[in-house]
Amino acid sequence: MCGIIGYTGPLDAKDILLNGLATLEYRGYDSAGIALCMEDSSICVTKKVGKVKALKEYCDQVVKGSSHSGIGHTRWATHGGVTDANAHPHQAGRVTLIHNGIIENYHALTEQFGLQDELVSQTDSEVAARVLDRIYTGDPLMAIRELMRLVEGSYGFCIMFDDQPGAVFAARSVSPLVASYTRAGAMIASDLTALIPYTNQYFVVPEQHIVKLTPYKVHVYELDDTFSKFYPEIMTVNWNMDAAMKNGFPHFMLKEIHEQPDAMKKTILPRISKGLPDFSDDGIPDSIFMDCNAVHIVACGTAMHAGMVARALMEPLLRIPVTVTIASEFRYEQPLIDEKTLVMIISQSGETIDTLAALRLAHSCGSKTLAIVNVKGSTIARESDYVLYTHAGPEIAVASTKAYSVQLAALYMLCCRMAFLRGKYTAQQAADFMTDLLDAVPAMEVMIAQQESIRQIITHIIQSPDAFFIGRGLDYAFSLEGALKLKEISYIHAEAYAAGELKHGTIALISDQVPVIAIATQQHVFAKTISNIREVKARGAFVILLTKESSVVDDTLADIRIRIPDVDDRFTVFPIAVVLQLIAYYASLGKNLDVDQPRNLAKSVTVE
Ligand code: AGP
Repeated sequence: MCGIIGYTGPLDAKDILLNGLATLEYRGYDSAGIALCMEDSSICVTKKVGKVKALKEYCDQVVKGSSHSGIGHTRWATHGGVTDANAHPHQAGRVTLIHNGIIENYHALTEQFGLQDELVSQTDSEVAARVLDRIYTGDPLMAIRELMRLVEGSYGFCIMFDDQPGAVFAARSVSPLVASYTRAGAMIASDLTALIPYTNQYFVVPEQHIVKLTPYKVHVYELDDTFSKFYPEIMTVNWNMDAAMKNGFPHFMLKEIHEQPDAMKKTILPRISKGLPDFSDDGIPDSIFMDCNAVHIVACGTAMHAGMVARALMEPLLRIPVTVTIASEFRYEQPLIDEKTLVMIISQSGETIDTLAALRLAHSCGSKTLAIVNVKGSTIARESDYVLYTHAGPEIAVASTKAYSVQLAALYMLCCRMAFLRGKYTAQQAADFMTDLLDAVPAMEVMIAQQESIRQIITHIIQSPDAFFIGRGLDYAFSLEGALKLKEISYIHAEAYAAGELKHGTIALISDQVPVIAIATQQHVFAKTISNIREVKARGAFVILLTKESSVVDDTLADIRIRIPDVDDRFTVFPIAVVLQLIAYYASLGKNLDVDQPRNLAKSVTVE
């Protein structure tokens, strides 16, 4: 949940670290700080509450002299409030350390090393720094290896030692770290967005290894007695700086909404062969689709909502149980899965710790795992039996948009392949399905083009502290994501509800002018949904109705009607998703909130 970065090389470390933190800020932005190894080899730490921009202004005032190595951190608070003292980096004697993750035994370590009277913060990370300083005898590798043996929990550490000027050390357990030797020098960071401006070659820092960055080399060491060298696989990223920047859009979220049609095509087209979905280039064998007798989808947040849509599509078609479980619940249950269950893991970042834990649990139950991931080489991608990469490019806005659409595209193609292999679709039906899936892309473009008309309706939503999203079947699954989007960036309490369920209690909350966004695109339950809309209308709701262009609805039913193109019922999620994203986006804007970095949130939840 935090962004960390380390650098050493010929360039100005302060600028490199601050620019890098700015690209990592979406991972957490409660406070930020950097530590610089100055020309006289002293370590200069500047850190404060607030965003990277504030830190930069502060550094410009207080940092005198130049530096060519350092570490930087942007924080999402886990242990201890949002204060300057709790900001990273943490200094302890000869050690300066930054940390992404959670140290679960930091109380025990505090007792074991008698640190109570030394601590100046409330963080687990400072305990790690103080323990490391206690055990440091001049050999960084020995001390870091010992620290890794003592610490329980998750960590990505970047560390500097007073007597090791110009060197930056790192180690990880669960929390992500990527590194590279670039034309700018040696760099390490929580994810690729910080490295992209300098290189497209990188490696994933392997678990339980130590990395040492020097100005002209990056070394990786095993933890064995001799600290033998490890040579990681060098990977290439096909992103570029433009992909990681706003490119003229006011916010990353709006840019990423607009990028959805392109992301959809990049994700779908390489997997069509002779008109049918084909995953052979992804190394995914047909056997996993034919041999399973159940599918279990596990994810968090928006990714889980994509799973809910997939379930509503898959189960009626495949006629096998398709279950969706929230990863943070799944990992502590005794799920009914086995070697005949295909577990699908969905994660944009590929680093969500609950989802990673669920993946590992699935493996322990003997299930085959297929991950749908957007970040190449991420932990979940590397640990899954099979991975189907989405090609959305970097998603920077905390609120997921294009990742949701391409996750759905991937799930839809998997569903189609399974239906074909299991005899539920003929080759023609499968080909028609894929044609309809591609037809959803221009439908998304149509809704993107209507963004200004969608913007006009926002006043009816932001005036209310509450909002409801209702629908039936697939429409109900879509509504879950609409509610989350609105909540997480406009702070309006929004709730998704099965339209038929409202009258069993929740309708009591419908009063005059409460906004209800009703989704009615599924023909087989259309009349029932319309009845439910009449029920809320009769109680004073302000109804915003989303239907297909051709649907016949009397004018008195809704206060506002948004029409999507007449795509097949199964594919309405794609244009509907654009509408729901734009509603949330403009609601946040209408309330003058930080669209890309909403309060309390971070992009990748790598802590429990
Ligand atoms: C989506 O808008 C949220 N930012 C959040 O729910 C996100 O989808 C969730 O944390 C899962 O992240 P992942 O896809 O990277 O695993």
